[in-house]
Amino acid sequence: MSDLEIRNLHVSAEDKAILKGLDLEVSKGEIHALMGPNGSGKSTLANAIMGHPSLEVTDGEIRFGGEEITEEPPEDRARAGLFMAFQYPVAIPGVTVAKYLRMAVNAHREARGELEIKLKDFRKDAEAAMELMNIPREFSSRYLNEGFSGGEKKRMEILQLAMLRPELAVLDETDSGLDIDALRTVAEGVNKFAGPDLGILIITHYQRILHLVKPDFVHVMFDGRIVKEGGPELVETLEERGYGWIREEVEAAA
Ligand SMILES: Nc1ncnc2c1ncn2[C@@H]1O[C@H](COP(=O)(O)OP(=O)(O)OP(=O)(O)O)[C@@H](O)[C@H]1O
Ligand SMILES: [Mg+2]
Repeated sequence: MSDLEIRNLHVSAEDKAILKGLDLEVSKGEIHALMGPNGSGKSTLANAIMGHPSLEVTDGEIRFGGEEITEEPPEDRARAGLFMAFQYPVAIPGVTVAKYLRMAVNAHREARGELEIKLKDFRKDAEAAMELMNIPREFSSRYLNEGFSGGEKKRMEILQLAMLRPELAVLDETDSGLDIDALRTVAEGVNKFAGPDLGILIITHYQRILHLVKPDFVHVMFDGRIVKEGGPELVETLEERGYGWIREEVEAAA
């Protein structure tokens, strides 16, 4: 049994079908890459995994850790160990980075039946994670994502991953808009936490992050379905040949 199991998932937004029978399994210890042309439904899949309220699951199911979570609210999924780094992280006015992280960490601890983290331990963990992600200390007292540069927001997402220690992380274009050093920082952050206790689904358009965070499996999405699967070699093929040949294969099979 995989930790995340998605079967025949059909998802609509505003009555428009976006995911059209998608199957995917991700287990702890595995790194999966999800690629595919713009608009093929990658972010919608990520949002559906997290339970975004604007999406309607019209068929199929999502299971996590053996439990069906298809209709669970997002906060319960997060507490159960699902984490998502957004393609477009939102600002949270009035909530500082430190406060946000502490709330999130404590919500996770509560779900596991643990006591609130001691302030001293929280500071220590936060400082270590900020150092790892190359985020200056003064960011603790800034409002989350407000006025952050694109790269700072992406590094902040991995900082949250580091603090929350989820079982499954969905990273939606965590590499987009990063300069070369920030890309390396983000990749190092992800690699540090990759391991037997974490499954990773990394959504990306480019092979450059996949040279740093090596996927075990590569999936290609097209028009709301996964139409091709392979190993890392598939990334090179896509980079060389684009998506036209996949479109042709899909159309020929239809
Ligand atoms: N809430 C929504 N309401 C209406 N349409 C939506 C909604 N969310 C997504 N869509 C549509 O679903 C399709 C898939 O969008 P999605 O963002 O999942 O694509 P993507 O594969 O992540 O693309 P990209 O590579 O550009 O990030 C698009 O046509 C998009 O306009
Ligand atoms: Mg997207």
